[in-house]
Amino acid sequence: MDFLELAKERFSVRNYTDQQIEQEKLDKILEAARIAPTAANNQPQRIYVLQSEEAIAKIRSITRCAFNAPTVLLIGYDENEDWKNALEDGIHSGEEDASIVATHMMLEAWNLGIGSCWVNVFPNTDTAKAFGLPESVKLVLVMPMGYAAENAKPAPKHADRKEIQDFVQVL
Ligand SMILES: Cc1cc2nc3c(=O)[nH]c(=O)nc-3n(C[C@H](O)[C@H](O)[C@H](O)COP(=O)(O)O)c2cc1C
Repeated sequence: MDFLELAKERFSVRNYTDQQIEQEKLDKILEAARIAPTAANNQPQRIYVLQSEEAIAKIRSITRCAFNAPTVLLIGYDENEDWKNALEDGIHSGEEDASIVATHMMLEAWNLGIGSCWVNVFPNTDTAKAFGLPESVKLVLVMPMGYAAENAKPAPKHADRKEIQDFVQVL
């Protein structure tokens, strides 16, 4: 599909069927994560795939925004591996790296007919603890994923996009 068509068609899915994502499709989604660009190609991303009954129950108890998805990804980065800007203290790339990795996955998922939603409404540190992640791993987002339920529709505000001239300035 043409990229802009795909990007325009995608919407955040918040209601899923019970059907699990086929392993072959999940592998492609993870491949999209593997080939994403990251600062200095450091590849600090970390992705945790939740599919077991126990893991799904746990994430649903932590955030209401796991919805009823059969697969939920926890996406973050290892702070020992992300790029640090030598020109300014405290500037580092982990959140950006995790975000572009997540974007690649979200769009490849849609390309395969699978819906998802970017979720920031979760307690980042407590979630990492609840799943026993290393302390150096910082979670950035949660991404529920699966087949959209028949009645899953774009939210009313989905199509509210600013005009290009509202956010682009030629200097
Ligand atoms: C950084 C970020 C955080 C978001 N957090 C949440 C969230 O916690 N819960 C949720 O239901 N949607 C969340 N969303 C989805 C947005 O609400 C959604 O992308 C936006 O309203 C545009 O709708 P669309 O994705 O259908 O085009 C988030 C999206 C982004 C990019």
